[in-house]
Parts: sequence; C-alpha cells; structure tokens
Amino acid sequence: MKEFDKTPSPLTGKIEWKGSALLGPVPAVMVTCGPVDAPNIITISWTGICCTRPPVTYIAVRPQRHSHRLIREGGCFVINLVPAQLARACDYCGTYTGAKVDKFARLGLTPVPSETVNTAMIAECPVSVSCRVRDCLPLGSHDLFLADIVGISVDPRLLDGQGRLHMEGAGLLCAMHGAYYALGEQLAVLGCSTKLQNALRKPRRAASGKGENEIPAAPKPGRKTPLPKKKTAVPSAASAEEIRPPMHSPGYTNAAAPKPGRMPRGKRHG
Ligand SMILES: Cc1cc2nc3c(=O)[nH]c(=O)nc-3n(C[C@H](O)[C@H](O)[C@H](O)COP(=O)(O)O)c2cc1C
Repeated sequence: MKEFDKTPSPLTGKIEWKGSALLGPVPAVMVTCGPVDAPNIITISWTGICCTRPPVTYIAVRPQRHSHRLIREGGCFVINLVPAQLARACDYCGTYTGAKVDKFARLGLTPVPSETVNTAMIAECPVSVSCRVRDCLPLGSHDLFLADIVGISVDPRLLDGQGRLHMEGAGLLCAMHGAYYALGEQLAVLGCSTKLQNALRKPRRAASGKGENEIPAAPKPGRKTPLPKKKTAVPSAASAEEIRPPMHSPGYTNAAAPKPGRMPRGKRHG
C-alpha cells in the first residue's frame, strides 16, 4: 500500500485533509417525531442552536429517512439529550429504521407526550426540547429543519433549590468522527476569563504548583507554541466498547436491547 504523504503545507504547517464535513465534538441526540401513539426515534448529530431570542434550533435530515416524512407531516419534533448510559440505544436509533421496527418497544424506552407539540418524548432522557418546524431548507444531501423551541422538559433532579439547572449532572454523551464519548470534567465556567470571575473562583492549586482548573494562556501572536510532548491517546476499539455500558448497568432500562456484537459496524452516519 502507498505510504500516506505527511508533508505539511509550508504556509500552515498542517495537512490539507480531504474529509468532507468535520466538526467535533458534536451532539448525538435522539430526536422523536411522528404521532403521539406511534412515535419514532432518529439519532441526529447535525443539530444546534441558531438563535437565542426567539429560541431557534435546527436538525439536518436526509430526505430518504423515515423520520423526514414524519417531521414534514407532523410539523414538529423533540430533541432528547442522551445520557452516556443510553449510548447503545442511541446507536440503535441511528442504525435501524422506524419504517420496520418500533424503536421504543425494541429498546424498552418509554414514550411520554410532549406538553407543547404533537409528538412524544423519551422519559429516560433527562432533558427534552420540544420544537415546532418553521421552515425546511433543502441543502443537498440533507434538508435543514429550522424550528422554534417551544418547550424544555427537565428531570427535576437536575434543578437545585433556586431552580438553577445543573447540566453536569445529566452525564451526557457526545460524538466525534465516528465514535461516542462521555463528557468529562468541567474545566471552568463561562466568563472565567473576566476579572470578576477570576476573583470569584480562584483556581485550586495542584501539587505541581499549577492551577488545577487553569486554562492555558492564549499564545502570543507570531509566537510558535510547541505542541505538547505527551502523545494523545487514540481511542481504541476497546475504549469505544467501554462507553457502551452493559445492558443491565444502572440507568439502562432496556430489557429487549440487541445482543452485544450484533450492531453493524463501520457504517458512515450523518
Ligand atoms: C451518531 C449518529 C448521528 C447521526 N446523525 C444524523 C443526522 O444528523 N442526520 C441524518 O439524516 N441522519 C443521521 N444519522 C443516521 C440516522 O439516525 C439513521 O439513518 C436512522 O436509522 C434513521 O432512522 P429512521 O429511518 O427511523 O428515520 C445518524 C446516525 C448516528 C448513529
């Protein structure tokens, strides 16, 4: 096999990589759609927030998907945020079609009607965002459903006595370049670069004398920052397996889930 030419560009010092759409980390959410009494679940990574006021979100869905028709017909969907324990269920919903299988029944998940839109959400997900479609824009491989966020349902255990939301307690997963990851430790809070926040939250000093929670200073313009010497761990197949908890682990409610090892592998998603 021909060796890959790793000569970097003299301008950027980087390789011009030929992959098509790359961003990371991205969400891996379970989107519910279709009639309340026969809802479907589709896993979506191409999603995000695009306006705060009014709150507007989007999901990009291939027109061939069963869910695409359900969303077009119903005019709504719910974005269910996925805890790491449901990684396997999330993958299942992104692999099998609702045209042939009832994914709720197959995975032992519980549909509950949304308060605000005419479809169901997933009881086992800690946060569910109900959306009403305002537009559908064909882009090419995917159609972009632009939607108003009309309701957000939150597990009460994520709220403190003052009603503040603690998303870190949700233990959510994310996706990156064909693999799932459980979110790790919180590094800092938004606004940590301001004087006020620095005064409020002095970083704890680690044994090394460096602040445990310190964010490395931004490199000065024109100065070359050496890359860290430590090798970055490449996720192995074994570590990918580790994020798939055993079916009987706490929090995983799926009695009728597929047997380990029976998932199709190496499929390109998105
Ligand atoms: C992690 C992951 C992310 C995915 N993201 C998308 C996406 O953003 N858009 C899309 O159309 N399909 C996406 N898919 C593929 C669909 O979820 C998949 O084709 C699903 O089986 C369609 O279900 P349906 O036929 O019931 O609609 C993704 C799959 C996975 C596993």
